[in-house]
Amino acid sequence: MSTPQGPSLRELAVQALSSVPRGYDLLAPKFDHTPFRTPDSVLDATADALRPFGPFARGLDVCCGTGAGLRVLGALCRERVLGADFSHGMLVRAKQAHPEAGLVRADARALPFTGAFDLAVSFGATGHFLPAERPALFTAVRRALRRGGLFAFPIGAPPPIASGRYWAMLGFDLAMRVRNAVWRPPFVMYYSTWPLRAVRDDLEAAGFGVTTVPLTALGRRPDGSPRCRLVLARSM
Ligand SMILES: C[S@@+](CC[C@H](N)C(=O)[O-])C[C@H]1O[C@@H](n2cnc3c(N)ncnc32)[C@H](O)[C@@H]1O
Repeated sequence: MSTPQGPSLRELAVQALSSVPRGYDLLAPKFDHTPFRTPDSVLDATADALRPFGPFARGLDVCCGTGAGLRVLGALCRERVLGADFSHGMLVRAKQAHPEAGLVRADARALPFTGAFDLAVSFGATGHFLPAERPALFTAVRRALRRGGLFAFPIGAPPPIASGRYWAMLGFDLAMRVRNAVWRPPFVMYYSTWPLRAVRDDLEAAGFGVTTVPLTALGRRPDGSPRCRLVLARSM
């Protein structure tokens, strides 16, 4: 699951029994050696899909972690790029990897920006937001964007019900629900809580116009549909 430089099973267990920001503080030094860091293939496919919508001046990576999305923004934005995350440990690592970027410790549901960015991206963090939290998240991102600005994030197609991946995801979410029913603080991370239709509805309710583009470089499902789409939400 992770490389020899990655966290041990014990370290992962301690992380999973912490709050989300504390868990990422603990994981930060080894995060880039885990499968939780967004792979370069996804970052590159996203950058390629966004390029025709540019050029962009200022970009924001929401839930930047160690800075995976800052690389995408660096390739697309002419002026300033900034990452926001609520884990101090992850921000320290992001600063080491991207000294040119601005970094701000902030909760994505209450970003301290108004009309400041042309482009916002987010990778690998959707599962940390319950459906009921999406309105606050989307409202905060929309406020951070200038009018007409773009919020982009990849979203995977649900795996077919007959696949092992479907049952693995279901099992993970079930284990997480049990963990959160019996243990405090909660660690919110679910794989199946962001279906595209509901996400689109919530984005539109927050004032975005929504389209998607297939990220075909990331492959297709047996029925020919793309494994992954990039959601493009334009602030209206
Ligand atoms: C799986 S990591 C992804 C990091 C990076 N974006 C990537 O793709 O590699 C999720 C990140 O989201 C951050 N996060 C989760 N909930 C957050 C919130 N409400 N506000 C700010 N950051 C949050 C965590 O601290 C963590 O750094």
